[in-house]
Amino acid sequence: MQSEVSSVLQAANSSIEIDKRLYQEDIQGSIAHCTMLAKKKIIDVKKSKKIIVGLKKIEQEIYKKKFKFEIKNEDIHLNIEKRLFEIIGSDAGFLHTARSRNDQVTTDFKLWIKKSSYEMKSLIHLLIKDFANLADKNIDVVMPGFTHLKNAQPVLFSHYLLAYVEMFKRDFIKFQNVIDNLDENPLGSGALAGTSYNIDRNLTTKLLGFKSPTKNSIDSVSDRDYAIEFLFVSSLCAMHLSRLAEEIILWNSDLLNFIKIKDSLLTGSSMMPQKKNPDSAELIRGKTGGIYGNLNSLLITMKGLPLSYFKDMQEDKVAVFNAYDNLKLNLNLASQLIKGIVPNKQKLFHAAQDGFTTATDFADYLVKKGISFRDAYKKSAELVNIAEKKGLRLDQLDFKTVAEVDKLIEKDVMKIFDIKNSIEKKISYGGTGTKNVVSMIKKIKKEFK
Ligand code: ARG
Repeated sequence: MQSEVSSVLQAANSSIEIDKRLYQEDIQGSIAHCTMLAKKKIIDVKKSKKIIVGLKKIEQEIYKKKFKFEIKNEDIHLNIEKRLFEIIGSDAGFLHTARSRNDQVTTDFKLWIKKSSYEMKSLIHLLIKDFANLADKNIDVVMPGFTHLKNAQPVLFSHYLLAYVEMFKRDFIKFQNVIDNLDENPLGSGALAGTSYNIDRNLTTKLLGFKSPTKNSIDSVSDRDYAIEFLFVSSLCAMHLSRLAEEIILWNSDLLNFIKIKDSLLTGSSMMPQKKNPDSAELIRGKTGGIYGNLNSLLITMKGLPLSYFKDMQEDKVAVFNAYDNLKLNLNLASQLIKGIVPNKQKLFHAAQDGFTTATDFADYLVKKGISFRDAYKKSAELVNIAEKKGLRLDQLDFKTVAEVDKLIEKDVMKIFDIKNSIEKKISYGGTGTKNVVSMIKKIKKEFK
């Protein structure tokens, strides 16, 4: 047995300030383990009852902030065990039969990540609802769609918002995948080899709500894939939020002035009295770097580790808790932003008219008159050049000028340059036509009530 460790090692080794967040899962795991030990007659039923009462008391103490965490007791597992001795005496010593901190910690961590993935799912759910409401409220608002940040084609603002919904729907599914992939119970793997006691791993699996027990004791205590998956899905979701944040910052700039953001989501400058800055969006974007860092950090921690457990792995919680805290903040901030945005309808409409955004519609018009798309493309480019020279938009040209481009052009051409018409012509499934967007909003609202 190890004697007293140096104070430096104690400082490096102690994880209690971080892993105390696992206290509920640790107690849940211990109660399941203890219940199983008693059921299998590995420990006395009376003792097991005493242990469980003690554990529940500790849970209350921690919940009520009456528990004194001790750095010298290293981590959450030992802090709880030491306190159990204080409360129930030497019978506490029976709890750790057929268990190691190695299978204990990974069980706790899986339970925590499972709970947290459900939490992320519900925050994403709320965000999707906010998007659907904003889209619904602004169904007729038109804006320029961009590629390369150059005006491309007119789209509905609502359609643009639903693009983000698709990303968040994928994140929603991926957090469920994290849950499904981690759903094997490692408890009962011991330090790494399993145990000589006649334990019932199916019982603890059932009590802890896992689908099945893990199948290899060495892998069970070595595996942190589930934490990495959680960090990856968090990073992906953070990336989606960051793209949204960047978009909001641009839209809110004085250059574009596409949206107005509620004052409570903006902050002032210490020097310039007129400033109202979109810090909420900037923070979403800023915190994303840290979340990627967490993923990277755990991948690097794990890459050089032979099987099975090493203390390096204790750092897994630093990364996961940090990503969790920041992603949660970002999701909440994004929800507030989506609730607090009002599109500047006129500004968006005029922007959508700029940049010859109906040039493709004009080419399509010619194709429908019988010209090949490549020829039509050239003729449309010709018309854009003419308009550019005259300093006019396509819808400001007169019929005579347009008709000079090709003899097949008729009077009906003029409505082709109307951006609303351009949008309504996009009848393909998943396109920006109002009918499609309205039905998508309906579907999303039904799925994410
Ligand atoms: N605090 C440790 C961790 O989080 C618990 C496992 C300790 N196991 C050990 N063999 N020292 O990884």
